[in-house]
Amino acid sequence: MTTPIRQHLIDPEICIRCNTCEETCPINAVTHNEDNYVVDPAICNACLDCISPCPTGAIDNWRIVSTPYSLEEQFEWDELPEEDENLTLEETAPGAVEEALEDEVSRLLAEAHAGLGGKSKPPASASTPYVNLYTRGEPAVAKVAGNFRLTDGTTDSDIRHIVLDFGSHSFPVLEGQSIGIVPPGVDAKGRPHHVRLYSVASPRDGERPNHNNLSLTVKRDVAVVEGVRHEGVASSYLCDLKKGDEVKVTGPFGTSFLMPNDPEANIIMVCTGTGSAPFRAMTERRRRRRETRGTLLLFFGARTPGELPYFGPLMKLPDRLIRKELCFSRLDDQPKEYVQDRMRKKGDGVAALLGEQKTHLYVCGLKGMESGVTEALESLCREAGLDWKSLAERMRDEGRYHVETY
Ligand code: A2P
Repeated sequence: MTTPIRQHLIDPEICIRCNTCEETCPINAVTHNEDNYVVDPAICNACLDCISPCPTGAIDNWRIVSTPYSLEEQFEWDELPEEDENLTLEETAPGAVEEALEDEVSRLLAEAHAGLGGKSKPPASASTPYVNLYTRGEPAVAKVAGNFRLTDGTTDSDIRHIVLDFGSHSFPVLEGQSIGIVPPGVDAKGRPHHVRLYSVASPRDGERPNHNNLSLTVKRDVAVVEGVRHEGVASSYLCDLKKGDEVKVTGPFGTSFLMPNDPEANIIMVCTGTGSAPFRAMTERRRRRRETRGTLLLFFGARTPGELPYFGPLMKLPDRLIRKELCFSRLDDQPKEYVQDRMRKKGDGVAALLGEQKTHLYVCGLKGMESGVTEALESLCREAGLDWKSLAERMRDEGRYHVETY
């Protein structure tokens, strides 16, 4: 028998296939097929870089094995294999292994809560979030308190404001965190659907202040392939929910994309479409607390005003609370404008804020926007005599720069 080793594994039941671990791994030890994300035992050096960024904790699984599970075996799993309790690591007394693992898990979880050790850190003044309180095996059951269409009748795009009430279950969230939704039923292969993550759109004290509820901003995901209409499983499930329906929820998730509690912090928010959800939460938090000392600056891109979630309420927010830069890509009488175009136009103002130590920058929305926004930031910083690359590194290291794209 070969010497037992501790193998790093990903729990296929919890993993939401968000690709974060594969993007984070510095040595390309994480890979995936159409079913599972897996860790290559021949490459992984247990550097732990992937642990903290994982939104669900699925990445944080370990087994003591005499022969490592191969990639092919892991690709086939619907759940992790049982632990072999007869195996221990060499030079370790039986029993001490579990203790050591528990210590390590607690340490890693503590790190994940504080956002330390990973590449992305939370703002220094952010509250400590709760994560993983509810799992797929033991989800919270929320009741739908409301489901309202946000997009107007001129568009096919169906974006919803959905309010979930947790009744007597405690479900604490912070602005910027996400929750997992478990769609009922099974996929084409007869397996339960994967959990999907949605950003919370309400502040920590509830969609209605001091109510045990939260809201989500959900767009019905529709694709037409060769004339056939396909709808996303989870988004359709959510968009079709009726008041009183029960929903299984996991989470909360997210330890770094959090807002600073410091009322003097400036917050620059850049988003497209439903990427606005966390920024609605952050803005509402500031509005409720009547905190207008730090600047809130929002760059928000949508196809048309009718497709911009929360357009009406947003227009009513006073300029002393938030500076709004709304831009549209599909207006008949205007050229296409993306958020990055508007940022370039407002370059002086953005660069002036970026030069301040109390400024935090958040980008949320379509993946495609990321490179455009980076280029805009590079160029407007250059014009202002700042170097975006080194500034971005410093801001990320200080928990002041966050990107969440999908
Ligand atoms: P477009 O009209 O080109 O699709 P969506 O409605 O699909 O959620 O998109 C929200 C907004 O983001 C739309 O205005 C869309 O414009 C815009 N958008 C699409 N691609 C990019 C990109 N690469 N950078 C910035 N904005 C984008």
